[in-house]
Amino acid sequence: MFKIAVLPGDGIGREVTPVAVEVLKKAARVFRFELEFNYGLISEDAYEKYGHPLPEETMELCRSSQAIILGAVGSPKMDRLPPELRPERAALLPLRKMLGLYCNLRPVKAYPELLNASPLKNELIKDVDLLMVRELTGGLYFGEKYRRTREDGEEIAGDNLEYTKSEIRRILEFAFSAAGSRRKKVTSVDKANVLTSSQLWRETAGELHEAYPDLELEHMYVDNCAMQLVKYPAQFDVLVTENMFGDILSDQASVLAGSLGMLPSASLGGEVALYEPAHGSAPDIAGQDQANPLATILSVAMLCRYSLQSEEAARAIEQAVAKALAKGYRTPDLMSNGMIQIGTEEMGNLVIKEIEQSNGV
Ligand code: IPM
Ligand code: MG
Repeated sequence: MFKIAVLPGDGIGREVTPVAVEVLKKAARVFRFELEFNYGLISEDAYEKYGHPLPEETMELCRSSQAIILGAVGSPKMDRLPPELRPERAALLPLRKMLGLYCNLRPVKAYPELLNASPLKNELIKDVDLLMVRELTGGLYFGEKYRRTREDGEEIAGDNLEYTKSEIRRILEFAFSAAGSRRKKVTSVDKANVLTSSQLWRETAGELHEAYPDLELEHMYVDNCAMQLVKYPAQFDVLVTENMFGDILSDQASVLAGSLGMLPSASLGGEVALYEPAHGSAPDIAGQDQANPLATILSVAMLCRYSLQSEEAARAIEQAVAKALAKGYRTPDLMSNGMIQIGTEEMGNLVIKEIEQSNGV
């Protein structure tokens, strides 16, 4: 039995997660997987029940599962807590770190149906198909942090950006091997003109590249990359970068797919894998059946691909999403003229119907 921990979390996480779970259940029936779903608390609900946003019960559930589906964390109520208890820092990051999930994959593809949903010109984005490989358990997010008042009375705060060579190597290796089954190009993004950690990053990429003679390796400064992503995004195949650069660039890249609500993610590298949409909990639209569930649905497609090793199931879900979009259905974030606006649940039901229709169930 394949065990999946489901952590809906906060805000729209509570709406998009159940919808994606239903899609996965449908795929499981079609492709004959035996899945067991167990629900756990994270962030606000967990804090209310256990006094901590990531209680041991939830960690235990995650450790005893093979995959985790996470909605989103972050809520106005949790924002009022001291930083060390806020769910981003006290739940999401420790979860990634403790489970060894150093490799975060964020694929960005232009859907022909959504070209008009992006503020960028159609001809610029129509051939976009890139994979952002973000290092997820090191760098600025996890380096030493401090905040104090100096002798001269000035307040000072800092975060250390640190990487070991092996941390750099393992994420680059992942990127190189991913590029091998794609268009064979790796863009390693750094700030080696300024940062020492980036110099080690760039050197390591150069060394590793020797083992992959059929791949092209390109180094790019992060500021240039931000520009290139809007100027000529189709040039990219696999982008690999450190944690914080990857956080920023992946939000930017999501615009190529029409909306942050379309960007799935998989976090790999440990014994259990985590699947979550790249967007946040969006408290402003939570509880209104307005959230786009497709990022989470596409994340469960990634679960099929990477954890269940079923390319077939992954494609069936992805194609069902494309078909629902092709028929003109849109959540508010994707709305454009002449399209049919629907809510979170209805979008989920449409995707399920498409899976049924294409697979004779
Ligand atoms: C993401 C999110 C998180 C991150 C936040 C919620 C801590 O923005 O997954 O990209 O910065 O990693
Ligand atoms: Mg982010």
